[in-house]
Amino acid sequence: MRALARVDLAAIERNCELLARAGAPAALCVVVKADGYGHGAAPAARAAQAGGAPWLAVATAAEAAELRAEGIEGPLLVMGALSARELTVALRARADVVVWRAASVAALAEHPQAGGTGVHVKLDSGMGRLGTRDVAEATRTAEAVVAAPRLRLAGAMTHFATADDDPAYAREQLARFLPWAEALRARHPELLLHAANSAGTLGIPESRLDLVRCGIAAYGMDPFGRDPAEHGLTPALELRSYLAEVKPIAPGESAGYGRRFVAREPTWIGTVPIGYADGVRRALTNDCDVLVDGRRVPVVGTVSMDNITVDLGSQPPARGAEVVLIGAQGGERVLAEEWARRLATINYEITCGISARVPRAYHRSSAAAGGAAAGEAAA
Ligand SMILES: Cc1ncc(COP(=O)(O)O)c(C=O)c1O
Repeated sequence: MRALARVDLAAIERNCELLARAGAPAALCVVVKADGYGHGAAPAARAAQAGGAPWLAVATAAEAAELRAEGIEGPLLVMGALSARELTVALRARADVVVWRAASVAALAEHPQAGGTGVHVKLDSGMGRLGTRDVAEATRTAEAVVAAPRLRLAGAMTHFATADDDPAYAREQLARFLPWAEALRARHPELLLHAANSAGTLGIPESRLDLVRCGIAAYGMDPFGRDPAEHGLTPALELRSYLAEVKPIAPGESAGYGRRFVAREPTWIGTVPIGYADGVRRALTNDCDVLVDGRRVPVVGTVSMDNITVDLGSQPPARGAEVVLIGAQGGERVLAEEWARRLATINYEITCGISARVPRAYHRSSAAAGGAAAGEAAA
């Protein structure tokens, strides 16, 4: 394979089991938007369900429709804003939807596809994105849902801006959300209260409420940007390629566009046929390691669209050797979190950025938590 994203479904399942235990007695909702953070939405959704997630969530109506087309059943929440056209798609997919304006409830209640539709009312407690900041508006919205015979008030929700790096602010958000949500639940006992993302679930116990909405941690990435093993999470995705060319290079000779690597001493250069069109960001030029023969070797020269070059040193592996860009090999590993640090971004963007040109292959490992290489069971 030129390039391959290998996704370990057993790892997703185990991460979900861990999150279900951490969140209990709250139910687990696994977020599989953006093609399951790059891992593949339907396989990730099935693994999440097998790992004990009764709920799934996505951002868009099309993502909900895609899951249903794949035969995935069960409670499904579309968390994002919906245009009129998207609303039809979401309702056809029998998804729950999020609203925060009383005025939107009328259109929803009259929609021909509505029928027992679960509606979650969103309070903006400090994220400053979707939802209403006005508690009275949120209450009017909820009561309008209750008054509509074809709708069902299913949830009261909010979303944290800083659960990963400023839990004090997240607690302030919770303090704004809870009086409203609890008063509403006192009148409507079936209501599910939900606020926590992965960081809230793992780091802010009082935010777990009735339902926790976990994305990043389900894929074995750390919501705090550190080592996922700290929370017993197993990274599910490995990005692999191979040495397509191995050649000697003399002092003064260069590799790649712009000659951004010029050899100072004799060495061997390996060419790996994966590039920025696959999600290996160009900003990793001269600033990334890959694993070959169980050791780290540096990316040297400019990341191009379809290739990178690596400095193999004086004892190069053979052409055809496997290259691990993200994942483990021998005793070494490169985490998505390491790329994120180098790129001054977050791990979310790393796996979401692995493009559609990279095929996904699914397997089930019996690896222990922490991402160490391990034996594999049948796919
Ligand atoms: C509304 C909402 N809830 C939950 C999540 C899951 O967050 P995380 O991946 O940090 O667990 C997201 C993702 O961004 C979200 O937008």
